[in-house]
Amino acid sequence: MTRRKLVAGNWKMNGMARDLDAVAAIAAAARAHPDVDVALCVPATLIAAAASRGEGVWIGAQDVHANDAGAHTGCLSAPMLVEAGARVVIVGHSERRADQNETSHDAWAKAAAAHRHAMQVILCVGETEAEREAGRAERVVQAQIEKSVPEDATGDWFTLAYEPRWAIGTGRTPTLEEIACIHAIARAKLRQMIGDTAAGIRILYGGSVTGANAGAILFTENVDGALVGGASLTAAKFVPIIAAAAAGN
Ligand code: PGA
Repeated sequence: MTRRKLVAGNWKMNGMARDLDAVAAIAAAARAHPDVDVALCVPATLIAAAASRGEGVWIGAQDVHANDAGAHTGCLSAPMLVEAGARVVIVGHSERRADQNETSHDAWAKAAAAHRHAMQVILCVGETEAEREAGRAERVVQAQIEKSVPEDATGDWFTLAYEPRWAIGTGRTPTLEEIACIHAIARAKLRQMIGDTAAGIRILYGGSVTGANAGAILFTENVDGALVGGASLTAAKFVPIIAAAAAGN
């Protein structure tokens, strides 16, 4: 089963109007590498402007509410994000799990809401350093997948991202063997839950991906792309990752 690579950027709480030139430069690189899917999840304040500068990139959001509308001060729904120009949304990121106490069930409900409105979903799972040191990384990831992946997930709209929390923003990454191991376990868990459809689902690796390590990580078995934080903030850092994904095609 060949799965197209997906390189997704997560700008987190970074990005002002002055950064839209970076969106345009990243979009130009994406158009130059049509065999790779490129997403850029910007702050909600920039979605509409980024969508108008980002032809060739899936402009996206970093969170979505599980409901379509209602009394939820400060939250944004899938119809609102779609109207603003978002085609994709990240759910269950470890920073939201840690800062906003989001659970795997929340991630499940948010993924379902986004899918109802025809958005692509990137759902994040990953263990803490303490869990890895205790030898529990595999079980933690399996349990998160079990509780958060919607029953009707298919590769047409759903992507899983394995992001070990201790690798996010730290400059540390697992070995390629460790990445391959968790990705294989994640795919086996998906297969157990949704059968052969699992073969079409992309599993991204995230956590301190850079232009220097992307080539090796992106062509590790069962790695179908990358979710990139810090190195997605400028075209100079992000474009080499897109190029690395294209190089193996
Ligand atoms: P990082 O972040 O690339 O800065 O480690 C990855 C993420 O949180 O998605």
